Amino acid sequence: MNKMVEVSICYGTLCFVMGGAAFEMMGDKLPDDLKDKVAIKGMNCPGYCNTQEQGRPPFVMVNQKLIAGANLNKVIEFIRKEVDHGTNQ
Ligand code: FES
Repeated sequence: MNKMVEVSICYGTLCFVMGGAAFEMMGDKLPDDLKDKVAIKGMNCPGYCNTQEQGRPPFVMVNQKLIAGANLNKVIEFIRKEVDHGTNQ
């Protein structure tokens, strides 16, 4: 069964100015074969930007896995891994 991959994008100010703006309209920027496999939502700042521990903004979560210093390519790579996983279950 195909499960949707859940992508949560931090909409906090710091993530936004550190590159998160690139994730606006992200649904349109996904490769065609992934478009119907991904559920994208925003999240309020989870506070990772306040510590150095998790890395640097912007932060995106893909199925509860945290990506620091996220950019579109990194996020797509993570989504692909999740999609591939899903087919083995
Ligand atoms: S603004 Fe994104 S983690 Fe704080």
